[in-house]
Amino acid sequence: MTEQTEDGPKILLGVTGGIASYKSPELVRRLTERGAQVQVVMSRGAREFVSPLTFQAVSGRRVRDDIWDAQAEAAMGHIELARWADLIVIAPATAHCIGLLANGLADDLLSTICLATTAPLMLAPAMNHVMWRHPAVQTNVRALDQRGVRILGPATGDQACGEEGPGRMLEPAEIVDAVYAAPERLISQSLKGLTVVITAGPTREPIDPVRYVTNRSSGKMGYALASAAREAGASVVLVSGPVALPVPRGVKRVEVETAEEMYRAVNAHVGAADVFIGCAAVSDYRPESPSTHKIKRKAEAMSLALVRSPDTLASVAALVGGPFTVGFAAETQDVTGHARAKLTNKGVDMMAANLVGPDCGFDQETNALTVLWEGGEAQLEQASKAVVARRLVTLIAARYHATRGTRGAAPQAGTPVS
Ligand SMILES: Cc1cc2nc3c(=O)[nH]c(=O)nc-3n(C[C@H](O)[C@H](O)[C@H](O)COP(=O)(O)O)c2cc1C
Repeated sequence: MTEQTEDGPKILLGVTGGIASYKSPELVRRLTERGAQVQVVMSRGAREFVSPLTFQAVSGRRVRDDIWDAQAEAAMGHIELARWADLIVIAPATAHCIGLLANGLADDLLSTICLATTAPLMLAPAMNHVMWRHPAVQTNVRALDQRGVRILGPATGDQACGEEGPGRMLEPAEIVDAVYAAPERLISQSLKGLTVVITAGPTREPIDPVRYVTNRSSGKMGYALASAAREAGASVVLVSGPVALPVPRGVKRVEVETAEEMYRAVNAHVGAADVFIGCAAVSDYRPESPSTHKIKRKAEAMSLALVRSPDTLASVAALVGGPFTVGFAAETQDVTGHARAKLTNKGVDMMAANLVGPDCGFDQETNALTVLWEGGEAQLEQASKAVVARRLVTLIAARYHATRGTRGAAPQAGTPVS
């Protein structure tokens, strides 16, 4: 089962009986990857296309599909589901479903929840192009649009019926983008008004013009942190070593190559920072005298003299009146011990200790962290880097506000879209 977080936005995904419902399990997966808690509610029609078991497997929650389910009503009934949701997304939304909602009808669990909720509603219509163009459907869509319901798409193109025209459901990735287009609607703005500088990725220390010393860092954790901090309302500067990752939406990226360049770039931006997160795997040592020309294959053996690189994290932590500083410690053994020592030696406010192993840490999709601060500790269990990043940002915001007073907004619950 896909892991769900207890702190992510609560999205109720309605699935109705269109052929495009085969794409809805992927939508669940993409939303949970972004840290959302997803509760699937299916219409009778949807059950004819995809098994509830599929949605249960990808969402990690029992699917709800029956308003007359006495057992379910005794636990989290339709009113609780309506209150639980931060957002309701219906994908695909059939012509029938659109008709029900436009006319305020409630003949099944999903349409009843939609009437009983104050959560914003997004619909991704999917149907044959003649159905979509039908005046009845267009009148219903307009009525919903005027009521503030977001209509996502539909796209134009080849249809399941073999014809072409408007009526294709948007792709799951496009729907997720629409859901997160204004993250402040869904996600706590715990870093609102603050500037966060984050380092990510490896550094490359040249040996000669074609060779370098580097490490296995992919940059994924630092980039996930940049996204999470941005979604939490911060202005984010991402000082990045060479990685193959796109710039996260709304984030300013400064590209560097060596530890020295990273040190200088951080120092150029850290003056304005409220929070600094040193997530990059900076080379501790660099070749003392890189050759200006390619070294030829002549000598039987050779050795490389290395000198210490500047310590960016320690230098930021040492700044008088500097930002709340968070360091990362990648360890293969005694993670907590080494990280606690680093917390003290470097004088940082928080240390995120990273166990490097076969399924965890460098160049992996998942991570688990032990987070330490003076007088406290938290375990962030293994999860996708996006989820771990959001949890770490929540912790950082809480410690920042506890220790640095009221600069920026205090943590608050996500505010639903109006
Ligand atoms: C094979 C098949 C595919 C269908 N595809 C769609 C579709 O893409 N869009 C749509 O609005 N209705 C479609 N329908 C019709 C709906 O399933 C039907 O109107 C049903 O009553 C919708 O109920 P629901 O909205 O409660 O799921 C399809 C029906 C069948 C049999």
